[in-house]
Amino acid sequence: MTHILIQGGTVVNADHAFKADVLTQDGCIVAVGPDLQAPTGATLVDAGGQYVMPGGIDPHTHMQLPFMGTTTMDDFFSGTAAGLAGGTTSIIDFVIPNPQQNLIEAYQTWRGWAEKAAGDYGFHMAITWWSDEVKRDMGTLVQQEGINSFKHFMAYKNAIMCDDETLINSFKRAMELGAMPTVHAENGELVFLLQRQIVDMGITGPEGHPLSRPPVVEGEAANRAIAIAEVLNVPIYIVHVSCIEAADAIARARARGQRVYGEVLAGHLAIDDSVYRHPDFAQAAAHVMSPPFRPKAHQEALWRGLQSGNLHTTATDHCTFCASQKAAGKDDFAKIPNGCGGVEERLAVIWDEGVNSGRLTPSEFVAVTSANAAKLFNIYPQKGCVAVGADADLVVWDPVGTKILSAKTQFSKNDFNVFEGRTVKGIPSHTISQGKLVFVLGDLRAERAAGRYIKRPAFNASFAATKLRAEVQMPSAVKR
Ligand code: URP
Ligand code: ZN
Ligand code: ZN
Repeated sequence: MTHILIQGGTVVNADHAFKADVLTQDGCIVAVGPDLQAPTGATLVDAGGQYVMPGGIDPHTHMQLPFMGTTTMDDFFSGTAAGLAGGTTSIIDFVIPNPQQNLIEAYQTWRGWAEKAAGDYGFHMAITWWSDEVKRDMGTLVQQEGINSFKHFMAYKNAIMCDDETLINSFKRAMELGAMPTVHAENGELVFLLQRQIVDMGITGPEGHPLSRPPVVEGEAANRAIAIAEVLNVPIYIVHVSCIEAADAIARARARGQRVYGEVLAGHLAIDDSVYRHPDFAQAAAHVMSPPFRPKAHQEALWRGLQSGNLHTTATDHCTFCASQKAAGKDDFAKIPNGCGGVEERLAVIWDEGVNSGRLTPSEFVAVTSANAAKLFNIYPQKGCVAVGADADLVVWDPVGTKILSAKTQFSKNDFNVFEGRTVKGIPSHTISQGKLVFVLGDLRAERAAGRYIKRPAFNASFAATKLRAEVQMPSAVKR
C-alpha cells in the first residue's frame, strides 16, 4: 500500500476551509483531520502555510485534435502532463466525429489516443450530424460508455457546425437520456458571411478575426440555444462564454428559473482583444481562438458572472497550434487554426486575478476550478472534493509562491504561451494524482498512460428543468 500524509495545511473545499491533515492510501483519501498518524513508510508532505485543495478539473480541452487541416501540438500525454504541472488532475476532452462518421467509431479512436494520458480524463461527445443511427449511438454512449454530455458547435460552417434541426433533435435525445447538452454559442452563418465581407474589404490579417465574430454573434447563439433548451425542458451548459451579451443571456434565463450553466476560460478572463493588433503576424495569430478575446469591459462582466454564481466553471479550451501551423492563415485570417493553450496556467491565473484581487475566496476558487465541474458532469464527490472516499487527486497550493509564465519554461509542447511574461502569485507546490506525487516543487513526474478513463453516469429524473412558460406546458385538446 502507498500512503501520502499531507501535514499542517488548510483544506479548502467549495463549502468551507479548515485546518487538517490529509492521508491518502493508494488512489483514495482515507482520512482528513487533525494530527493524523503517518502509517509506516508513508511519504510526508509539509503543507504548512499552504492550502490543500481538490485537483483542478478542466472541463474543456482538445488534446491531439485534428482541426482546420492540422493536429494540435499537445497530445493526451503532453497535455495532461502540463495540466498536472499546473495542479489540474482531470480533464474532460471532446470526441468530435466528422459529419456522417459513426459516433462509436469516433469514440473508440479518441479512447485509443487518450490511452497515453498522464492524468484522468473523460469525454464530451460532439453531435455534428443527425440520423437514427446517431440517436441510437447517443444511448449506447450514455448507458454503456459513461458519457453524460453532448457538445454542439453552432459555428464552424462547412465543417462541424450543427444546424437548428440537429440541435433540437439532439437536445431532445439528451433529455431522454439524462445527459447534458452543451453548446459553442456563435452564429456560424453570420461568422461565415462576416469573414468573407472583411476579407473583401482588404482586412486579411488576424485583426479581422474578432471583427468577424463580434459579441452580438455569440449573444444571438446563446439566446437561441437557451430558448431551444427552455422549450424542450432540458438544462443547458454554454462553453467558453466570452462576452456580456452571452453572460446576460444566461443571467436572464437563470433569473426566470431556467437551469442554464456557463463556463468561462482563463484566457477570456485575463486577456483582451488588443492582442489581435500586434504588428507581428505570429504574435497576433497565436491568439486566434473562437470566440475571440474581447475588450476589457467583457472581462469584468465575466468576473462578475463567476462572483454572482451566474457562471459556474472555468476551463481553458486548451487547443495548441504552433507558429508554423498558424501560418496557414498568413493571407486569410479565417484559415488560421483556431485555438490557444492554458491547461498548465489556468489555476495560477485564476488564483492571481481572482483570489489575490479579492474577487473570489479560496473556497469560491475551488468551486469554479474543480467542484462545480465535478457536480455539473456528475463525478462529485469522487472528484472536486477533499473528503474520505474521494479520489486522491490533490493540489498543495503555495499562496505566496511566484512564477513568471512563459513558453520557455512551460511543459506544454507548444511554442507560445498566451500568458507570456505574466507574474503570478499563488502556484502549486505539489500535485497528487491517484495517490501519487506527480509534481513536486517544479519537478514533473508525470507517467505516460497512468491516467484513467472516468465514466460519468447519466443524471436522474430531477435533472429535467421545470416548465417555465405557460406556452410550453403540455397542451390539451378542447373537448367538443
Ligand atoms: O478556438 C477554439 N476554441 N478552438 C477549439 C475548438 C472550439 O471552438 O472549442
Ligand atoms: Zn468552441
Ligand atoms: Zn473547445
